Amino acid sequence: MCGIVGYIGKKDASPVLISGLSKLEYRGYDSAGVAIFNGDKLEIVKRKGRLKNLSDALDAEPVHGNAGIGHTRWATHGEPSDVNSHPHSNADGSICVVHNGIIENYIKLREFLISKGYKFVSETDTEVIPHLLDFFYEGDLLEAVRKVLGEIRGSYAFGIITSKEPDKLIAVRKDSPLIVGLGEGENFIASDIPAVLNYTRDVYLLNDNEIAVLTKDDIKLYTLDGKEIKKEVYHVTWDAEAAEKGGYEHFMMKEIHEQPKVIRDTMASRVMLGEPITLDKIKLTKEEIAGINKIYIVACGTAYHAGLVGKYAIEKLARIPVEIDIASEYRYRDPIIDKNTLVIVVSQSGETADTLAALRESKARGCRVIAVTNVVGSSVSREASDVLYTLAGPEIAVASTKAYITQLVAMYIIALFFAENKGTVSKEEIEKIKTEMLNLPDKAEKVLELKEEVKRHAGEIYKEEDMFFLGRGLDYAVAMEGSLKLKEISYIHSEAYAAGELKHGPIALIEEGTIMITLATQDYLFEKMVSNIKEVKARHAHVIALAFEGNEDIEKTVDSAVFLPRTIDLLAPVLSVIPLQLLSYYISVMKGCDVDKPRNLAKSVTVE
Ligand code: G6P
Repeated sequence: MCGIVGYIGKKDASPVLISGLSKLEYRGYDSAGVAIFNGDKLEIVKRKGRLKNLSDALDAEPVHGNAGIGHTRWATHGEPSDVNSHPHSNADGSICVVHNGIIENYIKLREFLISKGYKFVSETDTEVIPHLLDFFYEGDLLEAVRKVLGEIRGSYAFGIITSKEPDKLIAVRKDSPLIVGLGEGENFIASDIPAVLNYTRDVYLLNDNEIAVLTKDDIKLYTLDGKEIKKEVYHVTWDAEAAEKGGYEHFMMKEIHEQPKVIRDTMASRVMLGEPITLDKIKLTKEEIAGINKIYIVACGTAYHAGLVGKYAIEKLARIPVEIDIASEYRYRDPIIDKNTLVIVVSQSGETADTLAALRESKARGCRVIAVTNVVGSSVSREASDVLYTLAGPEIAVASTKAYITQLVAMYIIALFFAENKGTVSKEEIEKIKTEMLNLPDKAEKVLELKEEVKRHAGEIYKEEDMFFLGRGLDYAVAMEGSLKLKEISYIHSEAYAAGELKHGPIALIEEGTIMITLATQDYLFEKMVSNIKEVKARHAHVIALAFEGNEDIEKTVDSAVFLPRTIDLLAPVLSVIPLQLLSYYISVMKGCDVDKPRNLAKSVTVE
């Protein structure tokens, strides 16, 4: 999500910045821009769309100078446009900033700055930063940066430059990546190593809350309270392509590992203890909420599986009946909907043809439509009545992982929002659920530590031709996603079944050694699930179970089990899906399949 580069040295900055940005294109972006000090002032050039648009603009009207910052933006706050692109500046253009991340308290800061007479031109959260720097600036950029950092909450990596101290480039990070490249008579900053590899292989890997002050001949690193720190230089030995994947072999694995972060990002500023749940700019009055007598969730593929969890969560917490449908079915089946139906469409890309058609059909029939999507400015986001963005960042692997997990979080947020407003759940219970939600990133991190164990299981079963995924309640919804993941990237046939339904047919398929992946995370269904597992064990199936720590007894019934850190039943899908993603991943790798680009599949299906 977003790419930052910065340069200070003897070379012409413009081509260095463009070359660096081109190495960050893999991160996904929808606009790009640079600010270059031309010896007199900072000149900003930015363009919506591909990097080529920016480089064409710079070819047509070159900007020369030896220091500058550049950015590729992946929109989160405000649509992709020239004006929302970075760099952003203060009113007189003397301070320019590029940013990767999210400023959670930007609305309050914006209001404060407006009250002080500052004018905003973009819809971005980032724009508060140059104005805030301007507010604090008293002749020392580093001091101003430290003051700004004391005021902001969120995740960020910044590149900052001012024409008042043009021999300096300042960078800082917290929860967003940033490195500093060490050159001879020149220095660099970047979101990722590939952006500097044409110029240097020596870098500092900044940690959170470290500030780097670069001049062309020197780099000084400071803590937030101004203490200078020494850091070891990291010498890069690997190639650029490996670097784009963050050292992982495939984008899918990188994206699986980004999940703790994106869960946190998607909750940021929406789920806070002691404060009401917010749905960003979506305004629903108590009367409007009371008027909703049915919710329809419509989506395709993995997004549909997130919707299944959404149905469960909304019905359980908000007591509103929820229907869920696959978009390609919904659009042709004359659904019973009217102005009292709220339609929620879920789509990572926001461009899926069937989902878009379902949205249009719903609007035509007078429904209010909320889009849950990952792509700002996508067709779905533009046409829906309201949008709740999942903040997963660009997902490159075709098989969805991190986008799915943020869709789950969005579903919980929506369910809690309605529950809170309808008073269907006590305040204490809501706080308890929020507390558990806020613990999910750390627990997801723990689940990722199980990867070697999951890999071992993959090694035992990757040559199979058929598998079953079984679960009850929310475990069934996750079983469906696990089964889809396996089909998508390993080409193994699999079926997900509601465990209680197995005996009504599919049990006939079970033979000695049939692989059954069974989910047993739901406490209230645990005994029932164990009975279902016994039924398949009696037919000599090979059973691998997923359960919470504390339920180790299940090992007596199954062939092997993977234990997850405990959370409440409702939130289990966020943790239980991760081992299933890992299992599919390892099986795909072991079978030699093209993990990131599976055959016959497209990331975004824009045809019917
Ligand atoms: C395609 C992708 C799936 C995705 C589905 C819906 O089939 O391969 O990974 O789940 O479309 O996409 P959307 O962008 O609407 O979530």
